[in-house]
Amino acid sequence: MINNTEFWSLYATVYDTLLSLRPYTGMLDEMVAGLGGPRGEWVLDAGCGSGNLTRRLLDEGYRVEAVDYSHGMLKRASLKCPEAGCRPANLDRALACPDATYSAVTCSNVLYSLPNPKTTAKELFRVLKPGGVLVLSNPIRGFNMGQILSHHWGQQDVPGKLRMLLRVPGYLLLAAFNLLILRKDQMKNLYYPDPLELEQMLQDSGFEEVVVRSTYAGQGWLALAHKPA
Ligand SMILES: C[S@@+](CC[C@H](N)C(=O)[O-])C[C@H]1O[C@@H](n2cnc3c(N)ncnc32)[C@H](O)[C@@H]1O
Repeated sequence: MINNTEFWSLYATVYDTLLSLRPYTGMLDEMVAGLGGPRGEWVLDAGCGSGNLTRRLLDEGYRVEAVDYSHGMLKRASLKCPEAGCRPANLDRALACPDATYSAVTCSNVLYSLPNPKTTAKELFRVLKPGGVLVLSNPIRGFNMGQILSHHWGQQDVPGKLRMLLRVPGYLLLAAFNLLILRKDQMKNLYYPDPLELEQMLQDSGFEEVVVRSTYAGQGWLALAHKPA
């Protein structure tokens, strides 16, 4: 069901509620920091969603092409990031660009939902320039939205907690979409590698110097991987 653009376009209507949660914004900040490259370089944000990581990359001085296959997500990304090239693309197919186009590729919480994540990883490797970096995040198996909410709650002062209470309807909708994603019959088709599997898969795709660490309040893995120079 989630290999379906309509699902993501519906999710787009509430997706940015995540921006009120520090574990999510912190993960995006970590991803931008992971690039560490010279500003002005071209970055591909693969599976840009509503453009939250794209926006941060632009604000840091990168030039960005952002792709996604959901029209609902892309519409929001284009509004948020008018200076980025936001265009439709299916990450389950070859990308319409030559080898070695980008200095860096970001791919935040997308891989798990793809039907052929290993093929996509090879495609991301192909479009990276030699010496380029891939920064990728993926939810853990057994991803729990409640952990993210409770982590954020624990960091709030009284006004912050009150703001969270006002947002409860939005959080319930977020949780509902995540439950749909995590339905049992759905789960077996989703890709939730552990850190070693993720490292191995990236190495099998040609990457080296792969480092995987925990992110997203313990609900995600963040991988940094380099294309040999
Ligand atoms: C959980 S959202 C993550 C969005 C964004 N990267 C972020 O971290 O906020 C997953 C995104 O992957 C996109 N996606 C899923 N399968 C895709 C595919 N085959 N091709 C392109 N985009 C895809 C969805 O449309 C959705 O926007």
